Amino acid sequence: MGIERLKSELALSIRARYPILYLVSWEEARVQSALKEVAADLGKKIFFWACTDGFDNDALNQQEGYKVNPALDRVVGSPERAIFVFKDLHAFLEDHRVVRKLRDTADHLRRSYKTLVILSPVLKIPVELEKDVTVFDIPLPDDQEMTDILNGFLHAVETNPKVTISRDQELLERVVKACLGLTASEAENVMAKALVADRRFCFDDLPAILAEKKQIIRKSGMLEYYELDESMSHVGGLDALKNWLANRANAFTDRAREFGLPDPRGVLLLGVQGCGKSLAAKATAAEWKLPLLRLDVGMIFNSFIGSSEENMRKAIRIAESIAPTVLWLDEIEKGFSGSQGTGTVDAGTSSRVFATFLTWLQEKRVPVFVFATANQIWNLPPEFFRKGRFDEVFFVDLPQRDERKQIFVIHLKRRGRQARHFDVDMLAGASQGMSGAEIEQSVVSAMYDVFPQGRDINTEDILTAIAATVPLSVTMKESIDEIRHWAATRARMASLLPPEPLDDLTGKVSE
Ligand SMILES: Nc1ncnc2c1ncn2[C@@H]1O[C@H](COP(=O)(O)OP(=O)(O)O)[C@@H](O)[C@H]1O
Ligand SMILES: [Mg+2]
Repeated sequence: MGIERLKSELALSIRARYPILYLVSWEEARVQSALKEVAADLGKKIFFWACTDGFDNDALNQQEGYKVNPALDRVVGSPERAIFVFKDLHAFLEDHRVVRKLRDTADHLRRSYKTLVILSPVLKIPVELEKDVTVFDIPLPDDQEMTDILNGFLHAVETNPKVTISRDQELLERVVKACLGLTASEAENVMAKALVADRRFCFDDLPAILAEKKQIIRKSGMLEYYELDESMSHVGGLDALKNWLANRANAFTDRAREFGLPDPRGVLLLGVQGCGKSLAAKATAAEWKLPLLRLDVGMIFNSFIGSSEENMRKAIRIAESIAPTVLWLDEIEKGFSGSQGTGTVDAGTSSRVFATFLTWLQEKRVPVFVFATANQIWNLPPEFFRKGRFDEVFFVDLPQRDERKQIFVIHLKRRGRQARHFDVDMLAGASQGMSGAEIEQSVVSAMYDVFPQGRDINTEDILTAIAATVPLSVTMKESIDEIRHWAATRARMASLLPPEPLDDLTGKVSE
């Protein structure tokens, strides 16, 4: 959603006499000018208040207008049809007198043609005000706005004879795309930096712009931006999941829209650790040629980078501005399991943040495909699994024999070995109960074993490594049985093959 849609939503809320609108943004100048346009469209006046100087209008300022409560009295007393924008009011919301005053003011505003707007980089709503306040996140610039920003920038610098600027259409489009996910001022800085480095603005600047964007997104502390070249062919087994994903590969295209397909929401993969869930997320983004945004759910609750709800909203906003994209929430149980999880997050906060996320997931109108993974489910809120949230919930089990064969082939190949020199049938048979990660590890550890001997690995070496492995499925048999049982009725199997019972395996190991 771009700034234009935000403006029309603001206008609607103002006309519907919502009393208090809360706009969360660091970009004061950009939001102020949007608000001025909304006011002009609605034929309303607009006044701005800050605790330093009070109102930007002398008539309103008489008597201590720089203090909050007297300023709110001015709002109530004003006969104007107007929008009153209070900057950084969040700083005063600790004072219960201000909170009370706002409630009274909200009551008055509902019956007037006036609207109060709180503009602040920090979202903080006392519970008493929850019913009176409507929150708006300011979207980051979309294609259109970013194009305007770029044109404005180029226009400002092109008169300088010392710089060379390419106006190549493809270059401009790619720069705009590379800047999505940044705020207007961040984007301007990135553009300026690209120019300053060599006094040229050309295709060579693209990698630097992208690198800069990755840096800025990483600095948010909870998101990581990747453009990967993984491939589904590196994922062994999981054919049901692969088929399902393949059917959605072009779901974000105009053709799909014309055909009448809804945007896919996302998928949740549950299951045994080390069986390719994270790998499948990366491969999906790469196969669909979309950037991958990895959201660290644990960091959302890290109080050093902001309040949890704000962090969640911010992450969503960045994902929306980069859309189409795959938003990958890895190991959601680490963040969303509430007090039982990390022990540092209280259950109330965790469930609020979680509600913000689910609401967004359900209502989102932007092409962001959510790819969530979880290694265990016991502490996850049941809402996660309800229909209508994710498009599908898949259970990723230990690889079955044929799948293990594929996984051996994949990892032998990835390490430059030819699979036909190995008895992969035998390896697959011997590795029952092992996860994909453990299979990979057996190949790697066989390589370590033979390297000092100055020869290459063979089937025998890998069998030795397998024999030395105690798979997780042995040490964690009970919990795997439990999750299998749970998943049998609640999730779709990611594999097309039936799972092998773990009992065989425990028997084998204890022999
Ligand atoms: N099905 C699989 N096919 C190929 N490699 C796999 C598979 N499952 C796991 N691996 C290997 O193990 C690594 C770790 O797996 P990962 O996807 O992180 O597991 P999970 O997210 O399910 O815990 C992968 O990067 C990959 O190298
Ligand atoms: Mg994982």
